[in-house]
Amino acid sequence: MENSFTMRKPYDMHMHLRQGELLATTVRDQSKWFCGGLVMPNTIPPVSTPERLTDYAGQIRKLNPDFRTVMSFKLLPGMKSSVVRKLHDAGAAVGKLYPAGATTNSEDGVKTWHNIKIALATMCDLGMILSIHCERPDAYCLDREYKYHSEFRAIAKAFPDLKIVFEHISDRRSIDLVDGMGENIAGTITAHHLLLTLDDVIGGNMNPHNFCKPVVKTERDRAAIREAAFSGNKKFFFGSDSAPHLRIKKESGSAGGGIYSAPCAVPLMAELFEQYGCLDKLENFMSVFGPEFYGLPVSEDKITLVKAGFRIPDEIDGVVPLMAGKNVSWSYHKGILKTIMESELYLRNSSC
Ligand code: DOR
Ligand code: ZN
Repeated sequence: MENSFTMRKPYDMHMHLRQGELLATTVRDQSKWFCGGLVMPNTIPPVSTPERLTDYAGQIRKLNPDFRTVMSFKLLPGMKSSVVRKLHDAGAAVGKLYPAGATTNSEDGVKTWHNIKIALATMCDLGMILSIHCERPDAYCLDREYKYHSEFRAIAKAFPDLKIVFEHISDRRSIDLVDGMGENIAGTITAHHLLLTLDDVIGGNMNPHNFCKPVVKTERDRAAIREAAFSGNKKFFFGSDSAPHLRIKKESGSAGGGIYSAPCAVPLMAELFEQYGCLDKLENFMSVFGPEFYGLPVSEDKITLVKAGFRIPDEIDGVVPLMAGKNVSWSYHKGILKTIMESELYLRNSSC
């Protein structure tokens, strides 16, 4: 058994960095493990104008100028071509489609793709990438993703040259869908959809910290998602969908969907891939296939994990992370941990 493991620093191709104080927390925790990634736009107000995009990107850059962000904007019904062009000029590489009411802060989302046809055509002209939260909010909760397939196919058919990402796959039928489509179609996979099933949410006492959208599903779904992640198929790559919600809100009786996995996803993935004898597939899944699809350079920086064991904190800045309290076999290489702890950035941003 190996006692250390080194790979290119991963990219997180799906992150919710939030706003205000939480933004400092997420940027700090993300940049420990990831060289950069795709920033989701479901802030309040949404990232849907060039001014807001510039402002949000600037706030992140100020917290960590070395963190490579890919900025996205939220697609709104009736969005004009000129707005998409200005967003592109302001630095947006991705448009995010949220079906109206599907998840956190998506009430202003899209009822049918016909309402964003012009924006999609413009994105296509500009070589931008479409990221989709694939759920039909009016369907039964466990079928919401599957029931979105027809809409997904229709968009892909109407824009055959558009690169499209099927985000946070949760249903085994979506693995087949993405796998069967052209090279311009890919899918992200989260740590929580690889690790949890619905039993971890409602199988015992209800655990709101494991509640996310799309909800984690059955053992069969998890097995198919694991198979895709372990397969070495470049269509499937890591996107954490790390999405912190404060503990008081999660435990309030009206918990929003979202799991905070940024602080622990990399060691958890190393543990899982090793358990299935696939540690050699981890680097491509986390550090290569994502940036390749997005046309980004892979990171030249490396991270080293060691078999030192680490306990996932019970709470980080008011948020309960994924698998809080669990002992994970892999940890930071001590030298790296020391460098991180001593860095000015860590000291400035850390509230631990
Ligand atoms: O679980 C989720 N949380 N899924 C999403 O699509 C949004 C995210 C959030 O922003 O909380
Ligand atoms: Zn998300």
